[in-house]
Amino acid sequence: MKTPLILCLAMASAFPMDAMSSEKMAQDKQCFGCHSTKPDGAAPSFQKIAQHWKGNKDAEAKLVATIRQGSNATGGPHWNKATMPDQAERPLVSEAEAKQLAKWVLSQ
Ligand code: HEC
Repeated sequence: MKTPLILCLAMASAFPMDAMSSEKMAQDKQCFGCHSTKPDGAAPSFQKIAQHWKGNKDAEAKLVATIRQGSNATGGPHWNKATMPDQAERPLVSEAEAKQLAKWVLSQ
C-alpha cells in the first residue's frame, strides 16, 4: 500500500501551501469574526464578494484597499448598511498580507 502515500506527497507538493495559509491568515486577522466563506454573517460571504468582483480588473486593488482601510475609506458601505471597520478595530494587515487575502477572497 505504498501508492496512496506517494500520491499524497505528490499532491501536497503540486499544490502550493497558499490556499491553506491564506485561510489561516484570515483566521489570525479575525476576518471570520464577520465574514464566512459560505453564508453571509454580519458581512457578505467571501464567495459572494468573489462573484461580485469576477472579471473586474480593478478587483484586487479595490479589495486590498478595503481590507487595509475599511469600507468607509473606499466609498462604502458597498453592500448593505454595515461597514467594514478600519484597522483601529482589527488586527493590522500589511500591504502584502492584504494582497494575499484579496487573491484568496477572489478565489472563493
Ligand atoms: C468587524 C467586522 C469585519 C471584519 C473583522 C472584517 N470585515 Fe470585511 N467587511 C465587513 C463588512 C460589514 C463589509 C461590507 C462593507 C460594505 O458594504 O462596504 C466587508 C467587506 C469586505 C470586502 C468587500 C469589499 C467590497 O467592496 O466588495 C472584503 C474583500 C473584505 N471585507 C475582506 C476582509 C478581510 C480579508 C478581513 C480580515 C483582514 C475582513 N474583511 C475583516 C466587515 C468586516
